[in-house]
Amino acid sequence: MRERALVRGNHSHIFLINESETDMTNAVRPSVPPGPKGEPFIGNARAFIVEPLAYLQRCSQEYGDIVQIRLGTTSIYMLSHPDHIEQVLVTHNKNYTKSRFTQRRKSLFGNGLIFSESDFWLRQRRLMQPAFHHKRIASYGEAMVTLAERMARTWQDGAEINIHEQMMELSLEIVVKTLFDTETTGDVQKIGAALDILIEQVSAAAVRPVQFPDWVPTRGNRMYNAALSELETIIKQIISEHRERATDNGDLLSTLLHAQDEDGTRMTDRQVRDEVVNLYIAGHETVALALSFAWRLLAEHPEVEAKLHAELASILGGRAPTIEDLPQLPYTEQVFTEALRLYPPVWGVFRDCKVADTIGGYPIAPGTVILLSPWVAHHDARFYTDPEDFQPERWDRQATSIPRYAYFPFGGGQRLCIGNVFAMVEARLLLATLAQQWRFTLVPDAPFELVPTITIRPKYGIKVVAHRRDS
Ligand code: HEM
Repeated sequence: MRERALVRGNHSHIFLINESETDMTNAVRPSVPPGPKGEPFIGNARAFIVEPLAYLQRCSQEYGDIVQIRLGTTSIYMLSHPDHIEQVLVTHNKNYTKSRFTQRRKSLFGNGLIFSESDFWLRQRRLMQPAFHHKRIASYGEAMVTLAERMARTWQDGAEINIHEQMMELSLEIVVKTLFDTETTGDVQKIGAALDILIEQVSAAAVRPVQFPDWVPTRGNRMYNAALSELETIIKQIISEHRERATDNGDLLSTLLHAQDEDGTRMTDRQVRDEVVNLYIAGHETVALALSFAWRLLAEHPEVEAKLHAELASILGGRAPTIEDLPQLPYTEQVFTEALRLYPPVWGVFRDCKVADTIGGYPIAPGTVILLSPWVAHHDARFYTDPEDFQPERWDRQATSIPRYAYFPFGGGQRLCIGNVFAMVEARLLLATLAQQWRFTLVPDAPFELVPTITIRPKYGIKVVAHRRDS
């Protein structure tokens, strides 16, 4: 059979495709998916930077399930159909790796779970999985509720608070307590301050077209390096204290230190450090964001808030929730599931094609960057009636009719978020604890704008007025 170099894909890859297929069946689509026309050199970067989420949504509506978007020299294929998303994450996942497009700060993430690959990743994932077993997570439940109650005691009836800041603080306390079994205020504050700077710098770099290596003394890099060294020092100290204690305290760090491979090997301090940093970064802001958006949605929808409160009152009757109560609180879960749909904290999951593939008839060349966007899929009117509406009830009525990969706030396949159960438990316990005692109204005219970097953040925070329930 005669072959000819025929198709020029993105990144100027030449594919060899079978001549007879194209000539005879006409079934092969054009080599490159459609997409918005770009400007010279920068491609679609300008439109993307102005309002990325709305832009991606428009692209998907206008150009279909597979769209080519060019950001400078990088060409990205955005996939919006659940079947295609499943292909990349699950059925053909061997053809894809985590994307170089998002792997920017090795000095921070090291060889941790988020970006590691292949056998090394698999070994680490297996070693860490026990730390995320239901039984372990159940043991963190009490700390989650206690810390939430402690925070709520600082609120005053009728006072204005930035619920986003409050959730950031609370989720940090929870992650530090469950990871390290420490509540030492000094440590929590230092870790929080260092993480804020690091995440800020990593997020800013993620949308910056030019990347400077860490050693270039830009202002951002200097702040980044100082914060990194502060974090390293605290974590080193905590690891060595844990090693000295030599007992399993039930916290995540103890589990990591005691985890053994089949051949009896354990993680080195360096690897434990990498995993701890990865868990901090992945587990702190994401949960805080999801809860902040949930509170905002509840404040906007008093009828939903009233229904949530009725469920909590009838099951808990004012007492603190425990993990055993969660199955009896289906509406609480639906509220959070719906908040994650409307505002998925991780708006984009990126992959690089490693082995040539075909998706929806289009050839995918090795090197192609793939974007799977929970934001776009979660707002798709093909899968959700009135997709912009906050309707927790849809998870009751429609749950079975929503295709599996039209909803993927935690990603999917073997790289599914390792903390997804942890997050769902934490979020429901915090909602149940706080919504029993407090309700919020939005501060009139407070601006609300989303900034998508690695996560979706509310640019001006979320300002609410707190109302004590029994007042
Ligand atoms: C609402 C909260 C959360 C959301 C929306 C979220 C979202 C995600 C997503 C989308 C991924 C997959 C990324 C990809 O495939 O490229 C992921 C991976 C990950 N998440 Fe989460 N996450 C949340 C909470 C957490 C928590 C609480 C932890 C830990 C305590 C955590 C730790 C991780 C780790 C370590 C990975 C990498 C897993 C791997 O590749 O094996 N996440 N998360």
